[in-house]
Order: sequence, then C-alpha cells, then structure tokens
Amino acid sequence: YEIYLNGMTGAVPRLPTDLTRLEALVEQRLGPGPVGYVAGSAGNGGTALANRAALDRRRIVPRMLRDVHERDLSVEVLGRALPAPLALAPVGVLSIMHPDAECAAARAAAAQGVPYILSSASSTPMEQVAEAMGDAERWFQLYWAKDREVTRSFLGRARASGFSVLVVTLDTPLLAWRPRDLDQAYLPFLHGVGTANYFTDPAFLAGLAKPVHEDLNAAVLRFVGMFADPGKTWPDLAFLRENWDGPIVLKGVLHPDDALLAAEAGMDGVVVSNHGGRQVAGSVAAADALPRVARAVGDRLTVLFDSGVRTGDDVFKALALGARAVLLGRPYVYGLGLDGQAGVEHVIRCLLAEFDLTLALSGHATPATVTAGDLQESPA
Ligand code: FNR
Repeated sequence: YEIYLNGMTGAVPRLPTDLTRLEALVEQRLGPGPVGYVAGSAGNGGTALANRAALDRRRIVPRMLRDVHERDLSVEVLGRALPAPLALAPVGVLSIMHPDAECAAARAAAAQGVPYILSSASSTPMEQVAEAMGDAERWFQLYWAKDREVTRSFLGRARASGFSVLVVTLDTPLLAWRPRDLDQAYLPFLHGVGTANYFTDPAFLAGLAKPVHEDLNAAVLRFVGMFADPGKTWPDLAFLRENWDGPIVLKGVLHPDDALLAAEAGMDGVVVSNHGGRQVAGSVAAADALPRVARAVGDRLTVLFDSGVRTGDDVFKALALGARAVLLGRPYVYGLGLDGQAGVEHVIRCLLAEFDLTLALSGHATPATVTAGDLQESPA
C-alpha cells in the first residue's frame, strides 16, 4: 500500500511497476551498443522467446479460502536462510549501464537482503564489491579460466572477500553467435570492460610482459585467451571441489543427466538456465527443462532457476516447477541503467511485492507449499 499512500500526495513511482516496460525505456536512454549487448540473445532470439512462452503457457490455478493473512516468503537455500526465493544473477560488464556498476547493484541487493552473485567478468574488482556490501550475502560466479593458477587465485580472493557460494557457469566455454553484437561490432571485453578481476589478479598479471597501462591490447588478448575453456570435462570439477570449501553450484544445466553428473561430482546445486537465451540458439526453454531436472535429482541437489523471470507470477511458477529459488537477470540490469542503486532496489521490491501477492491470492502463505499441482498448462 506504500505506493498508493504516497499517491495521496501526488507522488508516483519513478520507474514503471510493470518490469517488462523497463527495456524500452533503457533503449531510449542508452546507446545501441550497450543495449544490444544486454537485451540481445543468441541466433534469431528464439531461445529467449521460448523462455517466455514456456512460463506463459503454464497458468496458476488459485485456491480459495485458505488462511493467507500472515505470510512468510523466506526459504532455506544451500544452508542459508534467505528472506525470499530470489538472488541477483551474475551479469558482467555493468559499467556499460551505469558508472556505479556492480557496486550499485550489490548495495541494492544488500539493502533488500537478497544475495548478490558477482560475475567473474565484472567491471569492478571483487574486493571493492565486497567492501560495498559489508556483511551481506554474496556469491561468486566463476568463468573457469584455462589457466589453473588464475582460477586458484580467483577462488582464494573470492574466499578472502567473503563470497560464500561458488557458482560455476558451464554454458559459456565460447561466446555464442549473437547478431545484435555482431552487427554493432561491439563486445565490451575488447574495450577492457569486464576485465577488472583479471587486471587486478597477481597470477594474471604475472603472465604479462608489460603492465596493463603500457600494453592494453596484450592484456585484453591474454584475457580473451584464458576467459573460458571449451576443453573441460566432468572430471575437471575435482579441481574446483579441492580448491573451494563452500557450496558449489553449476549454472547452465538443462539435461537431467548432467544434473545427475553434477551430484556425482560432489556438487551442491545446479542453476537450470540457458543464460537468458544468450548461448544455444534453438535450446530448450529453461522452464521446460526445470521439472525434468528437479525430478531427476530429487533431494540430492539444490535446484535454482533463471532465464525469463520477469514477474512475481514467474517466480511462483518456477517454484511450482521444482526450483528452490530464482535468479533475476536483465530486469535488474535495466533498473541499474535507469536509476542506479535505487533502480535495482525498485526492481527487487516490485518483483517481491508481486510475488507476495501472487502467493497469497493463489492460496499460499509460504513458498514451501507451492507444488506442481498449482499449475495447469494452457491448451496450445
Ligand atoms: C549475463 N549472464 C551471465 N551469466 C554468468 O554466469 N556470468 C556472466 O558474466 C553473465 N553475464 C551476463 C551479461 C548480460 C548482459 C546478461 C543479460 C546475462 C546470464 C545471467 O546470469 C542469467 O543467466 C540470465 O540473465 C537470466 O536470464 P534473464 O533473467 O536475463 O532472462
């Protein structure tokens, strides 16, 4: 009711409360390069559309006359008590959206009690983001470099900076065919954006003949050469397990057999995700993959979900399909682009307020009682 009460004095929200309207606003304010990079997807954009369609096709069947007077959105995820089933997805190069970049997004997450997942490819060194967050819950996303020493160094720095969960992204051993970026000939990394963690890393810097400021090209090329490694296979996970003592979550799992391999490799969770439709054109929609993965792993792994979440009812549907919590991608990035930290907080608050209402109006007082029985597939 806060918004309606403010409205009595004539104040309306600075940004739309329908988060699907943010992209068009960002489009008007920022250049085509940055917007294309964030909004763009792989191939003809079909996977991103499929992500939405798979969520839209499933409809909630609300239950009536259940006591939803008092509600509690909290969930336990990987042994952590979270205030709601939400975390901010790792998104790199945020300085193309706002000068305060990852620090603004991280502060917003901290202020709202939502975990922030920092990308390996952030525009800000991880130590600086950690400092901006105080004691708030933060996880580190790893792009698994070819160079073992750099990976080991990243893990050590992340640990020392208070990042508690390691999220290893598996779906980006190569950057996909992304026509919006190709047509603009725009890739932030080639301008040295998204390289901050590397350019401050002793193991990375030790491999350079000259300091970064004297030969930026050589530094960028070394980064591109090691950024990710298409040669890795499942047994390689043992290296990460040995070098990280907290929970490890594999991001980008879509096949139930891969989820089972993750469990066998001693992992703690998976994120069912197709990278927001940015990697495999023609990929299965993430929401269609989710129930199969959740059924396959049962209680063996924590199952998280992203790709296409835009509204509170999407969060509800993801839980009903078997996720413990969801990660939010592009919407918070647009909030950042439009209004910095306040924009990200706006996005988190709108999403959670809408989720709370969806939960209540569907007859649930907590996320724990939401099941597959709360959904029905609409006829094609
Ligand atoms: C991403 N994503 C991503 N994932 C990751 O593991 N590391 C990263 O550095 C990035 N960077 C990144 C940049 C941009 C601009 C976008 C849009 C996405 C993927 C991200 O974590 C998440 O999987 C998707 O964004 C989820 O889909 P939606 O919510 O954007 O549809």
